Amino acid sequence: MYKAIRIVQPTLTIRRTLATMSSSQSQPTRRILNPSGTNDSLQAQQYTKGELNIDQLHADPIKQFDIWFQHAQDEKVHQPETVTLSTAELPSGRVSARMVYLKEADARGFVIYSNWGTSRKSTDVASNPQAALTFWWHELERQVRIEGPCERMEAEESQVYYDTRIRGSRVGAWASQQSKVLRDRAELEGQVAEVERRFEGEERIPVPEFWGGLRVKAEMVEFWQGRPSRLHDRFRYTRDGEGGWKIDRLSP
Ligand SMILES: Cc1cc2nc3c(=O)[nH]c(=O)nc-3n(C[C@H](O)[C@H](O)[C@H](O)COP(=O)(O)O)c2cc1C
Repeated sequence: MYKAIRIVQPTLTIRRTLATMSSSQSQPTRRILNPSGTNDSLQAQQYTKGELNIDQLHADPIKQFDIWFQHAQDEKVHQPETVTLSTAELPSGRVSARMVYLKEADARGFVIYSNWGTSRKSTDVASNPQAALTFWWHELERQVRIEGPCERMEAEESQVYYDTRIRGSRVGAWASQQSKVLRDRAELEGQVAEVERRFEGEERIPVPEFWGGLRVKAEMVEFWQGRPSRLHDRFRYTRDGEGGWKIDRLSP
């Protein structure tokens, strides 16, 4: 039978609802969160900052990304290089996602840097090279999605970026077995101290072989501009099979 949706308002009520749920109810109460910044109204905030038409788009999505990224920087979007990287392990198909920083973008692809020895993303991409990047630029009400296969960068290429990092981050990359379980903080600090001793007095530290760049080669890029009533403007670039790109407007 159809069950009425129960709409709960403030966070405290939600907590109370959750607290009673486990003890007295076998069916969880469905709850709808108030969108933030809307004075407790359940209506979602409207997107009004811009619109996007096909005649505003560059034929090349990488150039279009450059234009939007530059604009995001000019408009002081908070850390526009912050991006969600999604990966999926095979054969289980389990998906994982995490925030990373985009460090380079050119015709070859979009580059992030990470640990490729122990992290979850490393096991995911070892079994399945397909990845997705998702940017959200709140101040401009814009989203960019990128999908495609990825590949590890050569050590020499990774070294160039590695050398730009502060010493603490270069040491940290060596010390952290990213996403491995630690006994406590002291264990991590002990590993850092060990790496400090190993490279004491050496200004130039080699990039660890388990650390470096991952390049996502775009096969799909979508530019999304929020519009009122959730009737957003969306344009998707896919390869046209002749070395160029096809652009489709997608339904919101
Ligand atoms: C804003 C932000 C930026 C981050 N940038 C990176 C990054 O560039 N590289 C990275 O390895 N982890 C970065 N992290 C940490 C990751 O989110 C994540 O904790 C780590 O990569 C381990 O994830 P995994 O085991 O799923 O691979 C960042 C976290 C935040 C919140």
